[in-house]
Amino acid sequence: MRKVLVAFGTVIGIVVASLLGSSLLYAYVFPSQEPRQPIAFNHKLHAGDNGIPCLFCHVYATKSRVAGVPSVQKCVECHSSIKRDSPEVQKILSYMDSGKPIPWVKVYNAADYIYFPHNRHLKGGVACEECHGNVKSMTRIVRYATPGMGWCLICHQKRNGPTDCWACHI
Ligand code: HEC
Ligand code: HEC
Ligand code: HEC
Ligand code: HEC
Ligand code: HEC
Repeated sequence: MRKVLVAFGTVIGIVVASLLGSSLLYAYVFPSQEPRQPIAFNHKLHAGDNGIPCLFCHVYATKSRVAGVPSVQKCVECHSSIKRDSPEVQKILSYMDSGKPIPWVKVYNAADYIYFPHNRHLKGGVACEECHGNVKSMTRIVRYATPGMGWCLICHQKRNGPTDCWACHI
């Protein structure tokens, strides 16, 4: 039995190492290309220079699986007066008038069969920065990590997160 377990452990080790290896290679061959956003939203200006808390905009992060991206209304709360004449802010106001949501392009994306709950990680004491980098200093969101299996498991092994297959595969 012991031998079987050791062999099983080695197989998992090899799987993790190869997934990690291939994601590093991928990152090297295809340096991250962050999408063009419909409005030049700047995290450094909002969360850094003006100190607006992450949770003021990403309101679901501590309550649910997703963090959520703010609605146009949230932007207008401030921008009905702040920098109203700026061309980028004019775009916000025209989305508001048309009643259409701003079509933000996603930067982080795990496969549909992966269960990733933001709320559990925040309760477990993992900070936004550990997974998304120093967002306060980013003028545009730069992908800090690729949410692949090696990345999840390395942290789970260090920090007592679950490592059984069905915790993350749904
Ligand atoms: C809590 C208030 C607040 C909210 C909410 C807010 N902003 Fe801002 N925004 C600011 C402040 C303060 C500045 C900096 C103004 C300055 O430089 O004088 C700014 C600047 C900007 C600028 C730069 C304008 C320019 O030309 O200099 C853009 C673009 C912008 N915000 C977009 C957004 C978008 C999009 C949202 C919604 C997702 C949003 N903001 C939500 C306060 C806010
Ligand atoms: C004023 C509102 C506002 C604040 C404050 C804010 N964000 Fe955002 N965040 C946005 C908007 C709008 C987007 C979508 C546009 C983009 O990607 O820049 C976004 C996108 C993101 C994304 C990329 C999501 C994806 O996969 O597309 C991450 C990660 C993120 N924010 C983390 C943070 C963190 C961490 C903080 C605090 C340090 C923070 N944000 C503060 C409005 C905000
Ligand atoms: C343990 C790692 C981890 C932590 C901590 C974390 N995130 Fe995320 N975040 C992810 C992953 C992985 C995704 C992609 C999830 C998916 O596609 O299902 C993501 C996606 C996002 C998104 C876009 C999709 C969505 O859920 O709305 C935003 C915005 C975001 N995170 C903001 C934040 C903010 C703000 C914090 C801190 C309050 C935070 N994240 C903490 C790993 C993390
Ligand atoms: C930086 C560290 C870190 C990273 C990266 C990370 N996690 Fe976690 N995760 C944790 C910790 C710590 C816990 C335990 C939280 C607690 O105390 O309940 C956890 C718990 C979980 C849980 C259990 C939630 C529950 O209901 O008990 C799931 C599911 C999970 N993580 C999925 C993922 C997936 C999927 C990824 C990769 C896309 C990931 N995690 C990346 C640290 C991390
Ligand atoms: C902590 C979370 C987590 C655990 C535990 C986990 N996985 Fe994964 N797994 C992932 C993530 C995240 C991906 C990559 C999804 C993606 O590409 O977006 C993945 C991908 C995979 C893939 C590749 C699927 C494909 O189509 O490319 C296989 C196979 C796999 N896992 C098997 C397992 C097995 C077997 C176990 C148990 C020994 C396990 N996983 C445990 C998170 C996890």
